[in-house]
Amino acid sequence: AGTLGAAAAQSGRYFGTAIAANRLGDSTYTTIAGREFNMVTAENEMKPEATQPNRGQFTFSAGDQIYNWATQRGMKVRGHTLAWHAQQPGWMQSLGGSSLRQAMIDHINGVMAHYKGKLAAWDVVNEAFNEDGSRRQSNLQSTGNDWIEVAFRTARNADPSTKLCYNDYNIENWSYGKTQGVYNMIRDFKSRGVPIDCVGLQTHFTGGSSLPGNFQTTLSSFAALGVDVALTEVDVTNSSTSQYAGLTQACLNVARCIGITVWGVRDSDSWRAGESPLLFDNGGNKKAAYTSVLNALNAA
Ligand code: G3I
Repeated sequence: AGTLGAAAAQSGRYFGTAIAANRLGDSTYTTIAGREFNMVTAENEMKPEATQPNRGQFTFSAGDQIYNWATQRGMKVRGHTLAWHAQQPGWMQSLGGSSLRQAMIDHINGVMAHYKGKLAAWDVVNEAFNEDGSRRQSNLQSTGNDWIEVAFRTARNADPSTKLCYNDYNIENWSYGKTQGVYNMIRDFKSRGVPIDCVGLQTHFTGGSSLPGNFQTTLSSFAALGVDVALTEVDVTNSSTSQYAGLTQACLNVARCIGITVWGVRDSDSWRAGESPLLFDNGGNKKAAYTSVLNALNAA
């Protein structure tokens, strides 16, 4: 197949990108995105600061712009994200204890009601762990260690039709403390019946010749717990072709790795712009990394 989305679809997977609402007027951007991808994640527009800027006042205009753009082109959409220590609206940042707990529940209910039945998956909780595998000391964590499972139970009730994911970075190396911390939480959730369907590995890599240790083992180990896995925010500094091909192959080798999303279209669209992290250059031309990914998908 000649595009990333169609090539991934040959094995029942998707290939997605992050989309920013303020770039939808750029025709080079929308031409590439509309041609290559079949899954979309809103880069910022469905986050708490965007969707509930004032307490009790939800706004979905930017998120809906992306949702409509994607679904009008037959693409699916992943929701990102409901409970996170970063990009909280100011009013939420200043809460704690039981009032923050209630605010988190209300936020999940409010946003998920709007998108009920419409999204392929939600990143319910984002980046809740420290590098050593302990819990990140955020305002959410200060409400009690059970806040993550409360978020997932709330989310399941709010929209039983969407897949509920835990999403994090630096959980790609199987030998890393953070990977083990997240793995142990997922195992615990599955053993106690806490609703969780998927783990998102953000996959923000630093360019080099090889992948983080045993990356494929990490994917298959999570999958063996009974969850889907997905690469949710892929970028690789210097767009190392061997790493791009390798991460694609690792996903293809694991049956429950359901898809890959890159975190932007052109290098200039990236939060790491200047580090040449994506599959298209600033002019919208396909890079060698693009070809390495497409070839891996087509060989599967
Ligand atoms: O919305 C304001 C705008 O009003 C203001 O004029 C402008 C001036 O700088 O800033 C805008 O906010 C920016 C926001 O993106 C929306 O565009 C922030 O400065 C900027 O810091 C923010 O960056 C985003 C970052 O998350 C924030 O944490 C990046 O675009 C986005 O790519 C990045 O994505 C995260 C994932 O959500 C989670 N995993 C890591 C990943 C990369 O950091």
